[in-house]
Amino acid sequence: MQNFVLFFLFSALYCVNADECTTRLNELENKLDVLLEAQAIQKLEDNEKIKELEAIISRQNQVISQTGFRLSGLENTIEKQKRQMQPAIEGQAAFSAVLDHDLDGVGHQTIVFNKPIYNKGNYYDNSTGVFTAPLDGVYLFIYFIGNRHDREVDAQLMLNGLKQNEAVAEGVSNAHDTQGGNSAILQLTVNDKVWLATSIGDHVEGQWWFSSFTGALLYPY
Ligand SMILES: *[C@@H]1O[C@H](CO)[C@@H](O)[C@H](O)[C@H]1NC(C)=O
Repeated sequence: MQNFVLFFLFSALYCVNADECTTRLNELENKLDVLLEAQAIQKLEDNEKIKELEAIISRQNQVISQTGFRLSGLENTIEKQKRQMQPAIEGQAAFSAVLDHDLDGVGHQTIVFNKPIYNKGNYYDNSTGVFTAPLDGVYLFIYFIGNRHDREVDAQLMLNGLKQNEAVAEGVSNAHDTQGGNSAILQLTVNDKVWLATSIGDHVEGQWWFSSFTGALLYPY
């Protein structure tokens, strides 16, 4: 712009008589008009470009918010599928646990098979010895109890405190090993509790892992 101004001044001054100066001034006016017109056009073009950019931005905003809607739709679908899959996850309930030490002086007590070999879903609590059914279904339970020397123990499979069956392991002489067990299929309701309890006897052999408790959901029902 500065150059133009200098050029105008220079051109305006470069005349020798009034006529020539008038002509020059007219020429300058014309040039100035052309220049202003060009600037106006430039401005219009700039405005149009800005409008185009604004249109692009608003289209992109629409795309972004549509993407947002679709994302939250997907999230809902995933949540729903997670809920639908819940029984499948709970349906993997299965455990096996051993007693890893001897029990002496047992009377009526829960046998806490304290060492889990497998405990999918942790529905068997190895600090209490109690299995809690995660859902309504048909379950299989198997258990063994060991004994040694001429000692005896009876163990009962308990469902919510009610005896389902019983096993006995009764030695006959010194250094005699024996193992008794039983099994059952039980139809359980969610939160039913199953455990093993000694009824009579004095000893459970655990140190060789003779004694174990196993349970698994066969199918939801
Ligand atoms: C339960 O099992 C875990 C894993 O084997 C073990 O670390 C924990 O000591 C067990 N609990 C009891 C009461 O023995």
